[in-house]
Amino acid sequence: MKIAIGADHGGYRLKDEIVPFLKSLGHEVEDFGCDCNGSVDYPDYALPVCEQVTAGKADRGILICGTGIGMSIAANKHAGIRCALVGDTFSAQATRDHNDTNVLALGERVTGPGLALDIVKIWIETPFSNGERHVGRLKKVADIEKRFITGE
Ligand code: RB5
Repeated sequence: MKIAIGADHGGYRLKDEIVPFLKSLGHEVEDFGCDCNGSVDYPDYALPVCEQVTAGKADRGILICGTGIGMSIAANKHAGIRCALVGDTFSAQATRDHNDTNVLALGERVTGPGLALDIVKIWIETPFSNGERHVGRLKKVADIEKRFITGE
């Protein structure tokens, strides 16, 4: 799987643990930064990761900030992105199974690295159920997006 990843200054340390972990699982990773201690703005890192996913250049995206909240808000403004902020393994599994999320948000200041890597592995490896109920609900979500975001 090809995975795009990005973080702000509150999340880059966890990003730097997730990147080699994903590679060790055999995935291709494109890292959009940041790599510094200076203060940066999380929407600037959500943007290229979400663009990669919506353009089909990456299969999934992972975004990390201090809480994961800013990244999830920014990611979900992109048409075609379904981003979940996850802090437990049950939700990691359920959000793939039920919501077919294509971007995962994590909070470095909230979720320790051991749990974060477990979440990443489960989220990457769980397929969408394609269940009729879930497909129908996602269609309704897409309809909201068309009506209020893309204006189609
Ligand atoms: C940065 O201080 C922090 O606000 C950011 O990483 C994130 O938690 C925002 O939601």
